[in-house]
Amino acid sequence: MKFFIDTANLNEIKEAHELGVLDGVTTNPSLMAKEGIKGKDNVFKHYKAICNIVDGDVSAEVIATDFTGIIKEGEELVTIDDKIVVKVPMIKDGVRAIKYFSDRGIRTNCTLVFSAGQALLAAKAGATYVSPFIGRLDDISQDGLELIEQIRLIYDNYSYETQILAASVRHTMHLLKCAEIGADVMTGPLSVMTALLNHPLTDSGLAKFLADHKKVNG
Ligand code: E4P
Repeated sequence: MKFFIDTANLNEIKEAHELGVLDGVTTNPSLMAKEGIKGKDNVFKHYKAICNIVDGDVSAEVIATDFTGIIKEGEELVTIDDKIVVKVPMIKDGVRAIKYFSDRGIRTNCTLVFSAGQALLAAKAGATYVSPFIGRLDDISQDGLELIEQIRLIYDNYSYETQILAASVRHTMHLLKCAEIGADVMTGPLSVMTALLNHPLTDSGLAKFLADHKKVNG
């Protein structure tokens, strides 16, 4: 399972990268705004800075919502770095744009996916990744993990190569259940990755090992 970090914060990206388990980054316009990044030049420089830290794919989202605008933005975004994947919303012109990009070898991440039907469309259009937002579904009392199961089944039935990128992951149970179901990728905050480290028996076991070592070695 690939681990992507869902942030535009360079320090958090560096920390996850240094942990040695980071496979990529996802951003969105809200995450860029949170870091105070504005203006095309600054946005492009920031994506480049992210690409310089990580070894894997970096999703950069288009702002346009019409076919021509999405194509123009996507074609500009991919000039920043080979790691850039164009993030396109699940709307009619977005699906058309994904097909256009996929026919030209430009990789895409279809975002804001909340149903299996949308995921099927994204795969048929040739998306590299599909991003079902499981946390946001849970927020409205729909089972986000059930959607991951449904998409896994559909994609396996037809051997679609689109990778399931479980997004809006909020906690370790989301992550682990996605791993059990077979999501290809999860994206979430740094805290979700570091929370995997924690177990009280690890802490007490290590304390005992160190105390026993000290008894003999001083
Ligand atoms: C996915 O790529 C999105 O950036 C993201 O996972 C949204 O998560 P949120 O619901 O925590 O904002």
